[in-house]
Amino acid sequence: MRIKKAVIPAAGLGVRFLPATKAVPKEMIPIVDKPTIQYIIEEAIHSGIEDILIITSREKKAIEDHFDRFVALEDHLRSKGKDDLLQVLEETGGMAEIHYVRQKEPRGLGHAVHCARRFVGREPFAVLLGDDIVRSGVPCLKQMMNLYEETGSTVLGVKEVPQTDVSKYGVLDAEPVRDQVYRVRDLVEKPAPENAPSRLAIMGRYIIEPEIFEILAYTRPGAGGEIQLTDALKELAGQKEMYGLVFDGDRYDVGDKLGFLKASVEFALERPGLGEAFRGYLEQLVAGGKSAPGQ
Ligand code: G1P
Repeated sequence: MRIKKAVIPAAGLGVRFLPATKAVPKEMIPIVDKPTIQYIIEEAIHSGIEDILIITSREKKAIEDHFDRFVALEDHLRSKGKDDLLQVLEETGGMAEIHYVRQKEPRGLGHAVHCARRFVGREPFAVLLGDDIVRSGVPCLKQMMNLYEETGSTVLGVKEVPQTDVSKYGVLDAEPVRDQVYRVRDLVEKPAPENAPSRLAIMGRYIIEPEIFEILAYTRPGAGGEIQLTDALKELAGQKEMYGLVFDGDRYDVGDKLGFLKASVEFALERPGLGEAFRGYLEQLVAGGKSAPGQ
């Protein structure tokens, strides 16, 4: 079965980025000039997703406005002959079919995904977390879809992380099947480093079979007092085959200040019309030279 639907949980409070996130949703904070959530949506679309459900909350109205059309601004740009900006605006207003549902209380990622049950129905679906941006040739989700097509089973996007970092992630107990592919035996959310079954950590990308919704309906709060998607996946792994794919590409944790800065610098360096000047500036900065203020 082809994966056509994706769910993007975006109801979190964004406390790691206060005070910026007091009035602006963290998903709207830009890397160079695009909100982080737009990178996630572009990955989904480039992977062949047709319908996207964003799980929002009361404070997240700016996300809906961003992906809506803004006719008065389009007219203004047209009258000024700013066709390049007009095109940018039209593109963001017409991205895929985006739907919204509100998570009414912050009860964790598992609870947020459970809010998607009516949208998803009885199909396998993708989940993409907004804090994880992946830069790769073949989109990360597409790589996972290819494995799903082969196995017909739930696929988790993973990377190996240092032992000291495992407590930030959902971690796999898994056996290798072939290069980059693992069969999942068990899962644990945010283990202490000494208890982690491996260093294979879930990187915010999932293709999940619809049985997860029945499990999420009775999943009790786990790590951090929240209903955890990892706990429901652990149960699913006990019932059906599940795979971990070490995907190709660089992953940035843009929910973390250092990760966000790394992504900003690397994406800016690649940007036509900006990258070259920015590289010159960075080289000068690293060499200890200082350019004139604001130059
Ligand atoms: C969530 C998941 C975790 C996963 C991580 C990836 O944690 O619960 O299993 O490894 O995203 O970024 P969070 O970062 O929301 O605490």
